Amino acid sequence: MDKYVSVAIDGPAGAGKSTIAKRVAKELGYLYVDTGAIYRTVGYHMSLMGIGPKDKDGIERCIDDVNIAIDYREDGVQHMILNGQDVTELIRTPEMSMMASGVSAQPCVRAYLLDMQRQLARTHNVVMDGRDIGTVVLPHAQVKVFLTASAEVRAERRFKELTAKGQQVKYEDVYIDIVKRDEQDMNRKIAPLKCAEDAELLDCSYLTIDQVVAEMKAIIRKKAEV
Ligand code: DC
Repeated sequence: MDKYVSVAIDGPAGAGKSTIAKRVAKELGYLYVDTGAIYRTVGYHMSLMGIGPKDKDGIERCIDDVNIAIDYREDGVQHMILNGQDVTELIRTPEMSMMASGVSAQPCVRAYLLDMQRQLARTHNVVMDGRDIGTVVLPHAQVKVFLTASAEVRAERRFKELTAKGQQVKYEDVYIDIVKRDEQDMNRKIAPLKCAEDAELLDCSYLTIDQVVAEMKAIIRKKAEV
């Protein structure tokens, strides 16, 4: 019997993974790990260094300078600390979404972050969301869910999220970014986004947040007997 329970939630951008994972983790008293935020932090560092998302040599040269700490504060937010600076808000822009998607295709970036993610699951009950959690990072997770929704619904949700934060974006641009990111994340050579064979597929296009949380908790109870 494993000491800790791992819940792996994968799915495309804007499916609502972080909203759902955060709530489920809180209700179960598990640690929520947003792995996209870690890739975003790497992307942010590369952009600070003037390195593009496809610059393999530049990224390889700089990856060892990326010192990431994850700080879980009372506010329940997963704060991302890059070389001592809190970049939690700075990584939440459309530019950093594309940057994260780009750098995440580089093998050296994935290798660099793999152990950090596994270490968290070795020492906590986790709800971890991302693209390759059930397939690569935690292939033995007791619970795996692939959370998805139509591209239109995902773009609409992301658009509302960004405008609520005061960012000036157009729905059409958000939709184009979502489709482009799907394409990049699903077709990269290493650890592409895909549904693990033993994952439950959950389409939340027409479900409320409460309904998805309830469904997710039912899956966890069934699979992990908690
Ligand atoms: O979940 P997100 O939108 O914050 O993720 C940003 C990008 O990071 C996503 O487009 C692809 C990459 N990513 C990844 O490759 N693997 C993960 N486990 C999480 C995110």
